[in-house]
Amino acid sequence: MEKLIINGPTPLKGEVNISGAKNSAVAILPATLLIDGVCTINNVPNIMDVKLSCQILEGLGAKIKWIDKNSIEIDTRNITNTIAPIDLTRKFRASYYLIGSMLGRKKEIEVGLPGGCNLGARPIDQHIKGFEALGAEVEITGGNVRATAKHLIGSNIYMDIVSVGATINVMLASVLAEGTTIIDNAAKEPHIVDIANFLNTMGADIRGAGTDMIKINGVKSLKGGQSYSVVPDQIEAGTFMLAAIASKGDLIIKNCITKHLECITAKILEIGGNVDMNGDKLRVWCDKRPSKAIIKTLPYPGFPTDLQPQMGVVLSLAEGTSIINESIWESRFQYTNELNKMGAQITAQGKSAIFEGVTKLSGASVYSTDLRAGAALIVAGIAAEGRTEVYNLEHIDRGYENIEEKFRNIGADIVRVVE
Ligand code: EPZ
Repeated sequence: MEKLIINGPTPLKGEVNISGAKNSAVAILPATLLIDGVCTINNVPNIMDVKLSCQILEGLGAKIKWIDKNSIEIDTRNITNTIAPIDLTRKFRASYYLIGSMLGRKKEIEVGLPGGCNLGARPIDQHIKGFEALGAEVEITGGNVRATAKHLIGSNIYMDIVSVGATINVMLASVLAEGTTIIDNAAKEPHIVDIANFLNTMGADIRGAGTDMIKINGVKSLKGGQSYSVVPDQIEAGTFMLAAIASKGDLIIKNCITKHLECITAKILEIGGNVDMNGDKLRVWCDKRPSKAIIKTLPYPGFPTDLQPQMGVVLSLAEGTSIINESIWESRFQYTNELNKMGAQITAQGKSAIFEGVTKLSGASVYSTDLRAGAALIVAGIAAEGRTEVYNLEHIDRGYENIEEKFRNIGADIVRVVE
């Protein structure tokens, strides 16, 4: 078993480069199934979820060639299977994008019900509603999802809930459908725009991504023959921004889209931190104890749920009493038990948590319960006094590229060891 050992506290200082967005890459890779050709994807984060996605694509007949550690050439001319490697699809959430892509490409697909972080109930009813509106039949049996269609025909689809996954999945299924599809009450996250840009680069006709109404005019085929670069990871950038604040450090965060970080910047400024945006980089620093805040997680451009645990670390060290209301996931406060082992004073109940700010955290052995919880515990370990051991690294490795190396390069005393 691997663990991270962190000795703190260390004020983080220096420059960090942001990788391509995980949640974009895990949708763009299945989206290549819509292409009858070859394409190259650059700025791909080298993480477990991407490696799994590649294995699944290979299981369906795609040919994958890693050009370097962040670029992949994908040949999807010969897609032979319509049953995805079931065990692999159960390992992560984004395998649900195979349904939209393969419905478009082959009108048929079977995948395992998607797994991923345990954040409470994660239904896919809005995905299914969209596929059915386009003319597909979807059946869930024996823990698998099987979707088939004779024809896919464009439709007007109103999403009952703002869902990132359902918006992308229905967009994927409608790219090669006959006629026009309109997705109303669509999610607006940066990676939705990124998937639409990728598909348009390959020959699709998608308009309005990034607004709450997306219009997809079906095209006959996607030919590929192009390269595309994945957008920088908003959540990785936000994780380092909050690490700078929690550790009272001073960081330059490079290769990011500062517009995507405005929702985080606003809260950092409110609690007394500093942010200076400059082109594709920003400086974040903090030289005093942050002050309390009230946070509610919301779909983009609201405060992202995927930065809620990292913000929780900052607020556990802030002056005064803070409140976080988690409005997206039922069960995203599991990390607070671990932070309390480090001396935090957090009371979490249902979808709310109260943070009585403490002046210091102390090192302890802690367990990541999911991906962002794991990132938050690393940040806490860097800010805490003494030795912290973080376990269950498989969650963290799913979504962060070289996380300990990136933190070490900005001064953290962090090593990975095999126990
Ligand atoms: C995506 O999950 C991300 N995952 C999550 O990132 C992120 O937390 C989430 O969006 C919200 O931003 C990927 O992109 C792979 P949703 P997704 O559909 O698409 C409910 C991380 O740490 N809902 O926007 O699965 C759902 O239960 C992860 O990187 C339905 O009720 O999230 C939730 O309450 C974790 N029915 C809300 O909508 C549906 O059919 C938003 O979920 C779909 C969703």
